[in-house]
Amino acid sequence: MAIKAPNNGWWRGGVIYQIYPRSYQDTNADGIGDLPGITQRLDHIAALGADGIWLSPFFKSPMKDFGYDVSDYRDVDPMFGTLNDFKTLVARAHSLGLRVMIDQVLSHTADQHPWFVESRSSRTNPKADWYVWADAKDDGNPPNNWLSIFGGSAWQWDTGRLQYYMHNFLTSQPDLNFHNPEVQQAVLDDVRFWLELGVDGYRLDTANFYCHDRQLRSNPGRGQPDGEDPAVNATNPYGWQRHLYDKSQPENLVFLQRLRALLDEYPNTAMVGEIGDDDGLARMAEYTGLGPDNQPMLHMAYCFDLLGTKKDATFLHALFSRFLSVVGDGWPCWALSNHDCARLATRWGGTDPDGRLLRLAAAMQMTLRGTPCIYQGDELGLPEADVAFEDLQDPYGITMWPSFKGRDGCRTPMPWSQAEPHAGFGPAKPWLPVSPAHVPLAVDLQQAAPDSLLAFYTQLLHWRRDQHALLHGDMTLQTSHPQVLAYERSHTIGGHTQRLACVFNFSAQPATWPMPTGWVQASAHNLGLASATVQDQHLVLQPWGGWVASL
Ligand code: BGC
Repeated sequence: MAIKAPNNGWWRGGVIYQIYPRSYQDTNADGIGDLPGITQRLDHIAALGADGIWLSPFFKSPMKDFGYDVSDYRDVDPMFGTLNDFKTLVARAHSLGLRVMIDQVLSHTADQHPWFVESRSSRTNPKADWYVWADAKDDGNPPNNWLSIFGGSAWQWDTGRLQYYMHNFLTSQPDLNFHNPEVQQAVLDDVRFWLELGVDGYRLDTANFYCHDRQLRSNPGRGQPDGEDPAVNATNPYGWQRHLYDKSQPENLVFLQRLRALLDEYPNTAMVGEIGDDDGLARMAEYTGLGPDNQPMLHMAYCFDLLGTKKDATFLHALFSRFLSVVGDGWPCWALSNHDCARLATRWGGTDPDGRLLRLAAAMQMTLRGTPCIYQGDELGLPEADVAFEDLQDPYGITMWPSFKGRDGCRTPMPWSQAEPHAGFGPAKPWLPVSPAHVPLAVDLQQAAPDSLLAFYTQLLHWRRDQHALLHGDMTLQTSHPQVLAYERSHTIGGHTQRLACVFNFSAQPATWPMPTGWVQASAHNLGLASATVQDQHLVLQPWGGWVASL
C-alpha cells in the first residue's frame, strides 16, 4: 500500500542548480556532455552549497529540440549514457547531500514516440485520440488560430489521417491529449518509474500546457505584441495573442492534483512547474495553491519575471509588490537565467558586465521569499556566448535569426579549466563552441581566486543556509525608491525572531537609504557586496552596492 507522507519541505529552503546535460561535461569524447560527466562534477555543485540539482532532459529523443522531444520516457538516450549511469549519478548526488530533480516533458512527445507513431497510423487505432487531432475547416485551413511558440500555426497537416495535429513547439513535438484518461494514466505510470528509481522530484516542462480548450476556440488578438522584451515578443506572433484557450485550462489543475497525489506517495519529493502565461504571478499563486478538489498541486512554480531585461529598482519593487499581494501561501522558484534565455551577465549587465551588479543580483535572488534556481555558469558570471550562424543548433534561433538568435548562446559548454582543450569540457570538438570569453572565467581560475564571483556565490550560499529568516521567513517590502530595492525577511523559531534587512542599490550611482539605528551587518565583509556605510541613520550605498543587516 502506498505511504502517504507529508513533504518535509527541503525544497522551500533549498537552492536548486540547473544542469543542461549536453553542455556540462563530456567524458566519452563525442563532443556532448553526458551523465558520467555530471556525476564527476557533482563535487563542484556540492562545494558551491546548492541543495539539489535539476537535470534538463536526458531521455531517449530524436533531439530536434535537444531532448525536450522525448521518444521514450523510461530510458536514457545513449548519447548521455545508460540507466545505470543515471543510478550512479543519483547515488553520488545523495551521498553529497544533493537532491535530484529531473525534467518531465509531459505535454508533448517526439513524433517518433511509439504513441504518436500509432496515433497517426489511422483514425481508428487504440491511440487515435491520444494526441490533439482536428479536421480542417471547410476551406482547408486549420481549425483555429492557435500559434506555435517556435513560429507559425500550432497545427500541422498529416497526410495519412487527413487531419491536423496540434503542436505548441516544433511540428515534431505533437501535443498529447490530456482530456483522454488513458493518456493521463500512461503519463503517470512513466512518472512513477523515476520515483521508484529514487529521484527527489521533477521540473515539469510547460506544466500549464497539458490541456487545451475542448471546443478549440480561437484566441483573441492583442493588437500588438505582449511584454517588454522586443527581441522575443515583437518578432514572434505568439506574443500577439491572449492565450485563453490553447493552455491554462481548468482541467489542467485536475491533472496536477493527480500528479501531486502520486508524488505524495514518495516522501520528501517535490515538483516545480514551468508556468508560462500572460499573468505568470497570478498563475503561480493558482498552481501552487489548492486545486478544484481542494487538493494540493505544485510545490513550486517557476517564475519568469526576472528573466527579462529590466532590473531597475522601480520595476523590481512593482514586481515584488504584486508578488506579495497575489501569492498567498504559494511558493515561487526564482531564476535569473536558464537554458531558454540570454545569460544574466549580458541581459542585465550589457557588453561589459559589472561584477558588482552580478553580486547584487545573486544576493537578491538568495534573499527573496522562494526557492532560488541557479543556471550552470551563472556562478561564474558567464556572458551570453556569441554563436555564429553556421554554428547554430537551436531550430528556434535558426527560424528567427537574426532578430532573435535563439538559445544557443546560453547553452555553450561549461568552462572547467583554462588550460585544457575546450576549457576542460572534453577532448573532442563540442556540439557548440566554447566561447573564448568564457575561458578566463573557467572554474579552476575562479577557485584559485578568493575574490572571484564563484567564491562570492559559495560564501553566499553557505551563509544563507544558517539564516532561517531567508529559508522560511515572511517578506515585507519597504517603500519604493528610484534606485534602491529594500525588503525585510523575518521568521520566529522557538521564541527567537530573526530579522534581516536587505537593501540593494540597483543603479550605477551612489544612493542613500534611511536606516534606523540598531541594525548591524549580517555577515563579515558584507557578503562581498560593493560597500555600504552607515552615516547619521542613513545607509550610503556604492553603485550596485548592497547591505544585508540584522537587528
Ligand atoms: C523548455 C524549452 C523547450 C520547450 C518545449 C520549454 O519551456 O524549457 O527548452 O523548447 O519547453 O518543450
